[in-house]
Amino acid sequence: MTSRTPTGLPGSSTSPAADHATSSTPVRGEPRDGGAPHSPRTRVPTPADVAALLRSRGGMTIERHLTDDQRAATLAADARAGLTAAPKELPPTWFYDATGSMLFGKITELPEYYPTRAERSILSAHAAGLAAALAETLPGGGAGTFVELGSGTSEKTRMLLTALVATGRLRRFVPFDVDADTLSRAGTAARAAHPGLAVHAVVGDFRQHVGLLPLADAGTPGAAGTDAATGVLVAFLGGTIGNLRPDERQTLLTELRERAGRGGALLLGTDLVKDPDRLVAAYDDSAGVTAAFNRNLLTVLNRELGADFDLRGFAHVARWDPDNRWIEMRLRSIRDQTVRVAGLDLTVSFADGEEMRTEISAKFDRPTVARELAAAGWRLAHWWTDPDEDFALSLAFAE
Ligand code: SAH
Ligand code: TRP
Repeated sequence: MTSRTPTGLPGSSTSPAADHATSSTPVRGEPRDGGAPHSPRTRVPTPADVAALLRSRGGMTIERHLTDDQRAATLAADARAGLTAAPKELPPTWFYDATGSMLFGKITELPEYYPTRAERSILSAHAAGLAAALAETLPGGGAGTFVELGSGTSEKTRMLLTALVATGRLRRFVPFDVDADTLSRAGTAARAAHPGLAVHAVVGDFRQHVGLLPLADAGTPGAAGTDAATGVLVAFLGGTIGNLRPDERQTLLTELRERAGRGGALLLGTDLVKDPDRLVAAYDDSAGVTAAFNRNLLTVLNRELGADFDLRGFAHVARWDPDNRWIEMRLRSIRDQTVRVAGLDLTVSFADGEEMRTEISAKFDRPTVARELAAAGWRLAHWWTDPDEDFALSLAFAE
């Protein structure tokens, strides 16, 4: 195959929503240390107050860095840039509407898709060791705040939460995802399982909003009680970091290092390089679930941008690119066709056989992970794999 140089995913920094006007639910009544919510009311509640209270039901707050309008504007900008580029390309962020998250859940259970099972087995073997390593190294004797990027259902994260709560240090869980519905369900479940834990869910795009993570700066004077003093663990699981291009990975890791501060730790899940046949099968399963997931991107464009993609006109393609060491997911037009995107006032032609890239999923080895971490100011301290060495979890500390 021809290995394409990444063309720059559109919209990562220049989209209209990049200035992220934050609509943040007030943290009113948030039981930060497990106490009962209290908020003496001194005025008549506005509709915004009522919405905020609804969103904080059950002791969870939701902060939105990506409102529905911003989501629509970012999607529109990404789609316009990607559909008019040569070659065409769409960024993977928009896979995850309710259907996409549901299909991803099915992917994690496929016989061919080993990463979820492998990562879960590493977590179950090493969650306690991880908590011990944090207790030894972090300033507060453990993590007081636990941030999870691309958290999804946080299903595997339960083991981590249990181990961290058992240390007696953990006060706050901050799941962060672009899919508000899945996030809110996961936050509610975490809160129900650990009533003493403050859950501060954040709806955002990790290509844009990591700088806004609700963490007290490392250098904050009078650090007692701040995140810098109590230790921060950031987890990025599922190999999702591999869905970013190398330059985007570097930017994200560097921002996380700055945001987490000197008392920061990073737990990073990465899929490992292996036999290409197994890699391709994991992204082109025999039941066709991954194909449906890939085509769901077109359904999102049809619904949200009034496009008229015919899903039967596009074939799912998954290829291993040995030069870049990543799987590429594409949609291939099976005939000459024209697609109208009403919401963009745009008509797009696809030639028979033309391929549009929808996702990369990079695969790693230990030296590569260590190098990328070090370049962002993280020191790799532990490297755990499953017995078959299919997947790795890295624990790194701020330099
Ligand atoms: N952590 C889970 C889910 C991985 S799937 C697991 O390991 O199984 C990737 C997750 O990242 C999805 O929940 C998706 O909604 C989220 N995601 C994808 N792109 C994102 C972006 N740009 N910003 C924030 N979240 C994103
Ligand atoms: N983070 C997952 C991965 O790279 C996401 C994923 C799994 C995915 N299967 C997919 C993304 C299929 C797009 C298409 O493994």
